[in-house]
Amino acid sequence: MSAATKPVIGVIGAGTMGRGIAQVFVQAGHRVLFHDASTPALEAACTFIGDMLTRAVAKDRMTQAEAGAAIARLEPVDSLDSFAPCDVVIEAIVEALEPKQALFTKLADILRNDAILATNTSSLAVTRIAAPVPGPERVVGLHFFNPVPLMKLVEVIPGLRTRPDLVAEMTTLIDGIGHTPVTATDSPGFLVNHAGRGLYTEGLRLLQEGVATPHQIDDVMREAAGFRMGPFELLDLTGLDVSFPVMQSIYEQFWQEPRFRPSPMPPLRVAAGLLGRKTGEGFYRYDAGKIIRPAPVEAPDIDLPPVYVTPGDGAAELTQTLLDAGVTLCNSPSPEALLLISPLGRDATSTALDLDLDPTRTVAVDPLFGLAGRRTVMTTPVTRPEMREAAFAALARGGKGVTVIHDSPGFVAQRMVATITNIACEIAQARIATPEDIDRATMLGLGYRIGPMVLGDRLGPARIMTILTALQEATGDPRYRPSLWLKRRAALGVSLLTPEG
Ligand code: NAI
Repeated sequence: MSAATKPVIGVIGAGTMGRGIAQVFVQAGHRVLFHDASTPALEAACTFIGDMLTRAVAKDRMTQAEAGAAIARLEPVDSLDSFAPCDVVIEAIVEALEPKQALFTKLADILRNDAILATNTSSLAVTRIAAPVPGPERVVGLHFFNPVPLMKLVEVIPGLRTRPDLVAEMTTLIDGIGHTPVTATDSPGFLVNHAGRGLYTEGLRLLQEGVATPHQIDDVMREAAGFRMGPFELLDLTGLDVSFPVMQSIYEQFWQEPRFRPSPMPPLRVAAGLLGRKTGEGFYRYDAGKIIRPAPVEAPDIDLPPVYVTPGDGAAELTQTLLDAGVTLCNSPSPEALLLISPLGRDATSTALDLDLDPTRTVAVDPLFGLAGRRTVMTTPVTRPEMREAAFAALARGGKGVTVIHDSPGFVAQRMVATITNIACEIAQARIATPEDIDRATMLGLGYRIGPMVLGDRLGPARIMTILTALQEATGDPRYRPSLWLKRRAALGVSLLTPEG
């Protein structure tokens, strides 16, 4: 590549992704040769890019002259032979192995020997695409996200035979268009689709266990754990017909790793056409594209019994919150008292029995994210309804949102966040990506407000360990076994961002 001029880019495939990729490169000053097997598709894409640039001018994001110069850099071509001057060719054609291999093999003949072949595949191994191509060391993954101009993340994925210096070269290229590159090894789901497993699999697991409804789980994730969207809102947005094959494929590619075991629910929901927004109904119903949420359950207006708060994680905040709300507290689990516990990783039943508390009067309150946001309360199977209602009323004082769920080791937020952090730690342990890139990629690619490593640090690696260990013990399910990355850093009392020495 010449240092004096910007690399000439080729983009093949003018569908959803190809048009976005071509747009960001012409906008960044690159000459882009653009091709599609279908001429109407190519023409439609060029019109689309022109419209996007016109819209950017209307919104004062660029001048008319800049838009004109950008569109002049876009050169639709009708044959692969025209790609000879390209420094980097990015393919965004159909997601199938043979056509991608055949395309790169043809291009290898046409391009200079040092030109780079990049694939935008989302689910195929870069190494497999490169295998039959003459010069597999020049093949690399550049995984963009949809819509490309808005999603500022690109995963750079070297295959097993990719020239090591290509990663740095591609990182510079992506930096140059104002996107954020992260490096991931050639592994199932690369980085973002791998890290994203936790939210979906644990959300579906909670649903399958009958712990809470989809909207309750989403409410807790948004209003207590601080996520932008809960798992079911996200599944509805993406479409279950798209998400379910990814769940299945990642589970199979990791040789049935229990952490990624999909739920039996999605295939039936796909068969029923409950795909999400696109079909008007998924986990929610939609009216003209607008989500219809169930009406919130009003807190009961009742006289409260005295409340006993059991010492433990979060008890001080719980006590203060109840005092501030004018609730009468007692110093011992007296016979008429509502008994509040705040376990980590345990369910209400086993905690009540261990503490020798009457399970018919016991209600658990989730301490993990504190009580500033939505509060989750959880009953044992024998908690008396009036005790459940009393806990609901006491916690709702001051207008706080309260979600009442069935018994679950680790409530909702603890299980979700511990699972997400654990998978992120396992990605770091397997050297798929650095802890910093894991956080960067999940924030840009999945819209997380905080990356799972920093979130795990804020909540405390030792607490995440406690939750996972208790969950594994309660369920006997190896999906909850803690990653060694987490285990070691929790034991040492250091940050989850601590690299190997
Ligand atoms: P698309 O179906 O919208 O567009 C594919 C285009 O490639 C079509 O215009 C088609 O005519 C053309 N094409 C197919 N075979 C060709 C060939 N042999 N030579 C030249 N043109 C050919 O597909 P989309 O969604 O843009 O996906 C493209 C690639 O990007 C796939 O590998 C996909 O997995 C990947 N990807 C897609 C994402 C998405 O959200 N849609 C996100 C990230 C990656």
